[in-house]
Amino acid sequence: MGRALAGALLEAGRDVTVWNRTPGKAGDLLARGAREVRSVEEAIEAGDLTVACLLDDASVREALAPAIRKLAGRTLVNLTSGSPRQARELAGWLEEYGVRFLAGGIMAVPPTVGTDGAFILYSGTRDLFDRVAPVLGPIGRPHWAGEDPGFAALYDVGGLSGMYGIGAGASHAVALVHAEGGDVEAFKREVLQPWMEQMLPIMVAGSDVSESVPDEYNPAMQATGLETMLSVSEEAGVPDEQAGHLRTSLWEMRRGVAAG
Ligand SMILES: NC(=O)c1ccc[n+]([C@@H]2O[C@H](COP(=O)([O-])OP(=O)(O)OC[C@H]3O[C@@H](n4cnc5c(N)ncnc54)[C@H](OP(=O)(O)O)[C@@H]3O)[C@@H](O)[C@H]2O)c1
Repeated sequence: MGRALAGALLEAGRDVTVWNRTPGKAGDLLARGAREVRSVEEAIEAGDLTVACLLDDASVREALAPAIRKLAGRTLVNLTSGSPRQARELAGWLEEYGVRFLAGGIMAVPPTVGTDGAFILYSGTRDLFDRVAPVLGPIGRPHWAGEDPGFAALYDVGGLSGMYGIGAGASHAVALVHAEGGDVEAFKREVLQPWMEQMLPIMVAGSDVSESVPDEYNPAMQATGLETMLSVSEEAGVPDEQAGHLRTSLWEMRRGVAAG
């Protein structure tokens, strides 16, 4: 991911210095104009804005700790995935050293970084976001998630939860069709894709924290349908673990019926 981020910034003409724990992984970034340095200190000293994108929160702490004083008066944007609590604690730690900080979350995968669909979540002060957004815009559309430094991680985890839900449903659908001898590729192309495209906006709009399910959703009918789907899955011999999303939806519909 670090290579993709640096690549998009170089493409936009930014002056980019890169550091990676294991040197020599910059690939074609150097030929494209990036400068590789051997220490985090040198990377921080190269400019006013440092972007961290490492494995997890612990790796960011480990990499920054020896160089933390160099960050005083500078800006750090952390695009490493983590939890809201980790982001808040990191913000507190950096504040002690006078570091301007934005927490982030990347809503893209390396091949889509810098493309139209990519967007990046940021949380921290609006003022700092307004200054950083034009500089980092080339990696993906900047989206401010709020002052609370934990919100970029919160929305990131929420977005990923939605994505994995879709992925789990799609995998189960394909397993089912395969188990019954169907044409998986034709099913994906002609049924699954157009059906999911039709339903995605409805599913997102209809997601709610309330226990009740709107009348037009007819939860009793849906509960009956979900029980049938679970039977079909079982009869096809698809592992029960793969049908977890159907059980979740059945639980929601039964709760809706119970709530009237
Ligand atoms: N890839 C994606 O599709 C994607 C999408 C959205 C968000 N993200 C997030 O972006 C971050 C990076 O993902 P990635 O795909 O680049 O992962 P990756 O390919 O596994 O790379 C991990 C990077 O972290 C470095 N690292 C690990 N432990 C370290 C430590 N203790 N100190 C210093 N550096 C350390 C590694 O350095 P070495 O080379 O020395 O091992 C490597 O550069 C993750 O938080 C991930 O969740 C990734």
